[in-house]
Amino acid sequence: MTTELTWLGHGSWLIRSGEHRIVLDPFLTNSPTAPFSVDELEADYILVSHGHFDHVDDIVPLASRCSATVIGVFEITTWLESKHGITATEPMNLGGEIELPFGRVKMVQATHSSVLPDGNSGGVPAGFVVSFPEGKVYFACDTGLFLDMQLIGKPGIELAVLPIGDRFTMGPADSIEAIKLVKPNRVVPAHYNTWPPIEQDANAWAESVRSETGAEPVVLEPGESITLE
Ligand code: NI
Ligand code: MN
Repeated sequence: MTTELTWLGHGSWLIRSGEHRIVLDPFLTNSPTAPFSVDELEADYILVSHGHFDHVDDIVPLASRCSATVIGVFEITTWLESKHGITATEPMNLGGEIELPFGRVKMVQATHSSVLPDGNSGGVPAGFVVSFPEGKVYFACDTGLFLDMQLIGKPGIELAVLPIGDRFTMGPADSIEAIKLVKPNRVVPAHYNTWPPIEQDANAWAESVRSETGAEPVVLEPGESITLE
């Protein structure tokens, strides 16, 4: 069995693990860097980190067409049920872990904000640690640096997906500190180069990761994948 993560640009990911297809924060329709349209995406499960438009935009069309189960904080799954008729949900909150057919999903803290596009509260923003058969993946999602990343890294993280765009999340320098706290084997950058305010030089970032941390950086273009072995 293999688990393959494909970057869909911005904070969006398609994960194929065995026969399961999991999408994190689908944002393709209004993303300038999406490699294909949301109509071409298939999902059995959708993970949602927080309520901002660049993370929830394509949840309703994708969940409706694919009958996917949406996993997110209680306030967001309740909003999807009451406002959009999405009834297949797995509500969670920070610190909680649930067992799903593709592995265990733990919701962890993120230092950010979370209001849904119509002004409703999205509850607290979150990241995820997903335990795939080949190892744990930490999706930090939209967050600043926080010292408790040390605890998130404690069970051993195979791959960390960290934002490096700056302005709305941590930038490259803080991501280096995050890597030192989480201590993943490999690290992939996300949430950058979608728009000019979050442009970053990912190759310069990768050089800093190599010289300052023990992790191996992997820089992807939208549409490219990384495999867990
Ligand atoms: Ni956000
Ligand atoms: Mn965002």
